[in-house]
Amino acid sequence: MNLISLTVLALLFSSTIGVKSHFKIKNPFKVNKQQSKFSCTSAIERWKSGPGDYKSIFKTQPANWIDQQFQPNEDAIAWPQPLTANELTGYKSASWERLGQLNPKSTLFGTSGYINDIVQGNIGDCYMLSGSAAVAEDNERFKQNFVSLEKNNAGIYGFNVWVRGIPFVQIIDDSVPYDKKQKEYIMAGVGEDGALWGPLLEKSWAKTVGNYEIAGLGGSQSEVVNYLTNAPSEIFDTKDLNAASMFEILNSADDKNFIMTIGTPGGSDKDICLYNLPCGHAYTLIDSTIVKSADGKQQYKLVQVRNPWRADQDFNGKWNDNAKIWSTPGQTFAKQVNLEKKDDGLMWMEDFEVLKAFDQFEIGYYRPGWKHSWYEKLNDDGETSQYFITLDAPTLLDIKVEFYNPKMYGYDCRGEEISGGQLQLIQVGSNKVLQSKEITDSDRNGYINQSSSPVAAGKYRIEIQVQWTDKDVKDYTLSIYSAKKITITDSKGQSNEIGAHDYSLRQ
Ligand SMILES: *[C@@H]1O[C@H](CO)[C@@H](O)[C@H](O)[C@H]1NC(C)=O
Repeated sequence: MNLISLTVLALLFSSTIGVKSHFKIKNPFKVNKQQSKFSCTSAIERWKSGPGDYKSIFKTQPANWIDQQFQPNEDAIAWPQPLTANELTGYKSASWERLGQLNPKSTLFGTSGYINDIVQGNIGDCYMLSGSAAVAEDNERFKQNFVSLEKNNAGIYGFNVWVRGIPFVQIIDDSVPYDKKQKEYIMAGVGEDGALWGPLLEKSWAKTVGNYEIAGLGGSQSEVVNYLTNAPSEIFDTKDLNAASMFEILNSADDKNFIMTIGTPGGSDKDICLYNLPCGHAYTLIDSTIVKSADGKQQYKLVQVRNPWRADQDFNGKWNDNAKIWSTPGQTFAKQVNLEKKDDGLMWMEDFEVLKAFDQFEIGYYRPGWKHSWYEKLNDDGETSQYFITLDAPTLLDIKVEFYNPKMYGYDCRGEEISGGQLQLIQVGSNKVLQSKEITDSDRNGYINQSSSPVAAGKYRIEIQVQWTDKDVKDYTLSIYSAKKITITDSKGQSNEIGAHDYSLRQ
């Protein structure tokens, strides 16, 4: 893949603020359903219609099965006017090839680790690819996302994902846009070891949010952590930290195996930022470690990041692969980090460089063994709803309200409007409000965060009130993340926990 061509598009690593400003419109319009087969709610309707009878396709293996919900044609690249940013017009006539046929010898996960499996194509989904690479760092965690772990002749793939906080099986076929002349993938490519999962997972995300164009207009890692694990995330601004406090957060998150990415400031990766890093770009945060001089007197706090372009791009930081510091006589720095000199996108940086070069990092608080409990509320009327839980013992938990990802409303459909409201945790009896959080469908930091200090045993009421915009599909999910399942009931004493992942097709 020609890396120059990769820089043609603005690859946004947007904060929630960036996303909002990106969706700014001057003339809000209403899409007429008669004129187009797509509307502002098409992605949501497709999701609501479910995955279909995919199990029989997995079992009977018809050769080169075609997904009728997301057919390999121009509509999968971008929707017609007015639901398009016209970013991918040049690719609408691309030919589609079956990934399995292009790579007859490849497997889903390749022959070596996952670290070099991701390589970005011509859309701005660095947030999605660096985020999935971060989830994939823990192979067992990542494998839970796959309905089947094998490649198959039908070219059908299923992903265990979360949409609006509901476990869901997203199905795709393996046809991908391909430049036959150049023999290049137009979207994400396969792993160095032939691993096929990168372009397949990217396609499942494109189908979920609508099409490749919407997936490629920038975003934040938390959207992917949410999609793959439903774990809560936190976004940190480096300007609020110093090198020591930042390193402490990163290092302790790394110890706990949390999911991490980090991004450079600026809107476009055509621009070059500090240390020759592309601006407006998201990187997977792989490792953090302290290297010491032989006499123990000097120590350096190092962080390893990975560019989803799978290339170092002239990176010229103090600890770049070719820097002299690695071969300082009498020192063992390179050995301490197992340095591999390779143009693979993996780069070491010192804490002060990280603080200067990046403006935001994100941590996904995935906790192995923790379970999700949820209540699905459809057609909410905007009034306050009450839910009840009982805790038998002091319990660590997070409580979130999940909305449709704003991307699912299609391009420019909601203007600058966002839906939001309030989430409260209240002790029944005393009526004491333990926590009250502002929530929006665009900022994932707004959730009740009791994962470090337990909530005492007892009975609790959770109150949710949402102000919807008139364009919203007024559904949400109350979602609790805790070591044990927790029964959530509404004011009528009913539960509503539908949806499931599928592991039944594994060999
Ligand atoms: C959650 O709580 C912990 C501990 O109090 C704190 O460090 C963290 O920043 C909080 N995260 C969010 C998203 O509020």
